[in-house]
Amino acid sequence: MKRIFIFIFFISILLQQGNAQVNGQDGKLLAPTPPMGWMSWNFFADKINEKDLMEMADAMLSSGMAKAGYNYIFIDDGWQGGRDNKNNMIADPQKFPSGIKALSKYMHDRGLKLGIYSDAAQLTCAGYTASLGFEEQDAKTFASWDIDYLKYDYCHAHEDSNTAKIRYKAMADALRKTGRDIIFGICEWGERQPWKWAAQTGGQLWRTTHDVRDKWKKRPTESWGLGILDILDTNAGLNEYAGPGHWNDADMLIAGLYGKKGPSGDGGGTGCTDVEYQSQFSLWAMMNSPLYATNDLRSMNEATKHILLNEEIIALNQDPLGKQAERKINNDSINVFVKPLANGDVAVAVLNRSEKPQSITINFSTLGLTEKYAIRDLWLHQKSASGNKWKGVVAPHETKVFRLIKQSK
Ligand code: GLA
Repeated sequence: MKRIFIFIFFISILLQQGNAQVNGQDGKLLAPTPPMGWMSWNFFADKINEKDLMEMADAMLSSGMAKAGYNYIFIDDGWQGGRDNKNNMIADPQKFPSGIKALSKYMHDRGLKLGIYSDAAQLTCAGYTASLGFEEQDAKTFASWDIDYLKYDYCHAHEDSNTAKIRYKAMADALRKTGRDIIFGICEWGERQPWKWAAQTGGQLWRTTHDVRDKWKKRPTESWGLGILDILDTNAGLNEYAGPGHWNDADMLIAGLYGKKGPSGDGGGTGCTDVEYQSQFSLWAMMNSPLYATNDLRSMNEATKHILLNEEIIALNQDPLGKQAERKINNDSINVFVKPLANGDVAVAVLNRSEKPQSITINFSTLGLTEKYAIRDLWLHQKSASGNKWKGVVAPHETKVFRLIKQSK
């Protein structure tokens, strides 16, 4: 017993040292900017199959999403068909008759990438075969299928932080050992403050909260089910932990779901307005969260396309400086976020959290932005003011986003 304690003590010391992150095989960052793509969970739950995923990839190309930067199809929970007689993980043959390797070839042939899902226990959250005790074998299997990303969940696992660190490190090491660059997404829902240790155990990103639901905010009568504002309020304070190669993951985008039943519809997820979806997209981009759409890309309406395909907002998320926005003003009605950009410009987002329109004057100098700027509204795609001030009305639940373009003096 004593030896076990000493072992755990040393492992925890090892895991707490430094803040180094684990890079790719060539020493370069594995995720220099936040990953972007489409994730299957909120739309299909575990009712996934290769035909739907290939159609989603086709839609990603034909809708302009791929051109805008969304290049991953992430298979979430429900693909697994158990293990074969050599304990190799296999895909469900009904859902994936051609196998996962054929699916990743389909993606790679089209310039896309493929992500997959497992869990640091014996079973996944939805009760499928998971990877505890098979880390090296499963990592080899994923590499042999040419997988580019692994989302690694934490259902059915011990709650303490040390176990989580040990289990995540085991899989991260196994992935690195395969010789293939596979981005590692840690998904323990922020319960053990992963922002403090996940990069060092080998993760390129880590979920900071429980799952997003298709709603603006948890209602006082609800005991669970996080909405956009609830996640924002956790994730916004974690800006100092994010940077190129290591990101706070605020969970999937819910734009275009409109209260569809399924995982995002549980816990009071009755749907949002397009203004609210637009706010989530703006704020997630400002906070450098990965951008994973989850709606049905095969039948997107114009409003959803307008949101997900806003390349000026995407450019903030993908800016090479990789600085997560800082929330400079935070009260019940107005939040103001400031995000410095690589070329010296600055992005400013103004969220109206209240139920009433707000007339606002922002003096950028009070936010520490004292240069002379041309101010571009990234939703209207036009210049909206010049100098050091913006004045206007922000609708309830709306987020205005500006790019302050530095002018020579
Ligand atoms: C957890 C994760 C979700 C999703 C499901 C799948 O709840 O947080 O994002 O992956 O499991 O079962």
